Amino acid sequence: MTSGEHTAPYGSGSPGSTAKKPARIRTHHLQQIKDDGGRFAMLTAYEQYSAEIFDEAGVEVLLIGDSAANNVYGHATTIPVTLDDLIPLCRAVSGAARRAFVVADLPFGSYEISPAQAIESSVRLMKEGLVSAVKMEGGSRYAPYVRAMVDAGIPVMAHVGFTPQSEHALGGYRVQGKDSGGQSVIDDAVALADAGAFCVLMEMVPAEVAAAVDRAVRVPTIGIGAGNATTGQVLVWQDMMGLRTGKSPRFVKQYADLRSVMSEAAATYAQEVRDGRFPGPEHSF
Ligand code: KIV
Repeated sequence: MTSGEHTAPYGSGSPGSTAKKPARIRTHHLQQIKDDGGRFAMLTAYEQYSAEIFDEAGVEVLLIGDSAANNVYGHATTIPVTLDDLIPLCRAVSGAARRAFVVADLPFGSYEISPAQAIESSVRLMKEGLVSAVKMEGGSRYAPYVRAMVDAGIPVMAHVGFTPQSEHALGGYRVQGKDSGGQSVIDDAVALADAGAFCVLMEMVPAEVAAAVDRAVRVPTIGIGAGNATTGQVLVWQDMMGLRTGKSPRFVKQYADLRSVMSEAAATYAQEVRDGRFPGPEHSF
């Protein structure tokens, strides 16, 4: 095995094959990947089929992000989405994923008041949404929250750098940690990891700051717009599959053009209905 390569410690297999059911990825597997010098992938998922496809494709972590606000519910920001909005999506993703580690976002307003509120909301995501961990936006102020949550048996993924729930406080979508070598981002990450976060996600920070964070914390790191030195990477699936319209952020790489595929299929169907070509005899009883 060359350095940087990773052999999954959790087995493999695919639905329908005779191989035994793949073992569920857990936090210690993600830690093992970092310890081995490997990398892993995370994608958002908000419903059954995307979760099933990404799980079968070998994506290690699925996130029911509060970006469901933008990508499911049609809001302009992540701020309006609630626990009640996310829980049914969590159940769908958790039910479909056989191997991936499933994480859900604590939405804006569901944790900021106190560690008790953060625990209560996390318990709902885990008991009703059946997820294995929660992700929480915010810096070192939340270290005592993380400690209390971890003590309560809740695995916490910290989210630092640009935190979309604070977009109005931060003055818009802006790269964070550009000043003083990104020391505030590094301090946030270290405080949250020391408090027990099993992973630190960084959004829109300079690549060298993310690399410094990855060196400063023992736990795996995940980046989105944070360069190539983190243990994992995450993208919103509708962005990387080319489903959404408009200008994408610089950190998005488009791997497919699903919008064109779906648009052509819908237009062909509609035309065949208008022409009387669908349904044909083979689709009729
Ligand atoms: O909600 C979300 O999609 C996120 C990103 C980090 C992908 O938090």
